[in-house]
Amino acid sequence: MWNAGYVSEVDYIYGYFSELAPIRLEFALLSRGISHDVGERPNYLELGFGQGLSLNINAATSSGQFYGTDFNPSQAAYTAQVARAGGKPIRIFDDSFEEFARRSDLPQFDIIVLHGIWSWVSEDARQAIVDVVRTNLKPGGILYVSYNCKPGWSPIEPLRHLLNLHAAKAATGGLISRVGESLDFAQRLVDTNSGYFAQYPAIGEMVKSIGKLDRNYVSHEYFNRHWLPESFSEVSARLAEAKMDFAASASLIDNMPGLGVPAHCQDLLAGISDLALYETTRDYLVNRQFRRDIYVKGKRHLTGAEVADRLEAYNFLALADAEELPLSLATAAGSATLREDIYKPVWTAIRSAAGELISFSKLCETVTADGISRTQLAEALFVLTGRGDLAPATRSADPDGDVAASVALNHELCRRSKYIAGASSLAAPRIGAAVTVGRVQQLVLLALWEGEKDIDGAVWNWLSAQNERLMREGNVLETEEENLGEIRKIRADVEERLLPLLERLGACPVA
Ligand SMILES: C[S@@+](CC[C@H](N)C(=O)[O-])C[C@H]1O[C@@H](n2cnc3c(N)ncnc32)[C@H](O)[C@@H]1O
Repeated sequence: MWNAGYVSEVDYIYGYFSELAPIRLEFALLSRGISHDVGERPNYLELGFGQGLSLNINAATSSGQFYGTDFNPSQAAYTAQVARAGGKPIRIFDDSFEEFARRSDLPQFDIIVLHGIWSWVSEDARQAIVDVVRTNLKPGGILYVSYNCKPGWSPIEPLRHLLNLHAAKAATGGLISRVGESLDFAQRLVDTNSGYFAQYPAIGEMVKSIGKLDRNYVSHEYFNRHWLPESFSEVSARLAEAKMDFAASASLIDNMPGLGVPAHCQDLLAGISDLALYETTRDYLVNRQFRRDIYVKGKRHLTGAEVADRLEAYNFLALADAEELPLSLATAAGSATLREDIYKPVWTAIRSAAGELISFSKLCETVTADGISRTQLAEALFVLTGRGDLAPATRSADPDGDVAASVALNHELCRRSKYIAGASSLAAPRIGAAVTVGRVQQLVLLALWEGEKDIDGAVWNWLSAQNERLMREGNVLETEEENLGEIRKIRADVEERLLPLLERLGACPVA
């Protein structure tokens, strides 16, 4: 069977992950002062692209040639259809990783990414991934890999085992219904407060929170035949077979010295010189469950002056609206407080651009007057990007092409949201990434772009044709009047706030 125990009975969710964007990968490496050899028009490969949203958005918003493989033919066909609407050619394969590794018609890739794959596939598939990276990633190339890690997942392994056993032996119906029955079974066990469930109270919380998640996601995350959380030391040793060196986390906040590690553990960690022991121990200190790692084939450190020069190539755009930013920052270690004397002037300088891009050198010039050094400014920009308050941008090799492709892709994504609550991101070519845009917002945009006279009425007609209703404060709105009222509010926000932002991002045709 082609799916090799991988869940293929239900569709995977339509996720977009900004970490996979070429610009974000390069920016994350810069945050750790690591060099790479990715040019302006990289060959980019995504292994296991799911519904292909990240791949399609990356292809539309960045220069280069984009490739992807996912052995699920329905997902490969869907991704190819959406790609055609975007107009930038993407080479889509429905090969398994094992088949893909045997191909002789592939180029040398500059970037290979795989998100949500490594822990959920067979040993043969993992070996094929290592083979592709060993053979097809060029020296200086970047690899992004995310995976479930120890020790965060260790106590949950027995729960996952029991859920699967129950789904296979006692539950009935299709996968989604079996998942539901198995979760009910787990809840009854939690309620006994006995044995394992009494020993690990967090398991009860876990069962409750899994119960609230999208069932398609839960099927893929917990009900796959393969599920192997590993330590950083195990994964990095495996990737060393493909000559890969760990370089940075794609979670920018984790790359900042002092953030992401509890303060009282920092001296202990500082005494560890071996990288594998350091990173693994760090995961134990924050009980990490999931890693988003960036590797480079042949790691080379940049000097301070090189980092400074490379930062000069970046512009920044505010995504957050607030006049003042919260100083409390969520980190892997809990939380940290940002220094007001640095972050306040930096944010004021970014906002002075009034929603336009502002260059690193201009920011530098502005904040020097507040006594902020280039290094402090750079760190603040990495942290604020990590939190999603702003986005970095570089000059694209093909800016007009990116805008045209992104506008076409966004139109297609909005058109598809008439029928299904799919992608909740739209391509934003000026920042080489995406922005979050919900389904009803997309339908308002669609109505505006298609010149509908009665915008609210058009949105309501599309939703009601699918038997869909809006929600307010967790309650479904039943009457047409209530739904139209809610749509009106969303339209006002789209017109006042979202549309101007999307126009600045090159994400939609300028009115
Ligand atoms: C959990 S999903 C992640 C999808 C996507 N990367 C994302 O994060 O949205 C895993 C994907 O890998 C694909 N896949 C699993 N095993 C594979 C294999 N051996 N060869 C090719 N694709 C595989 C599945 O079809 C599925 O789309």
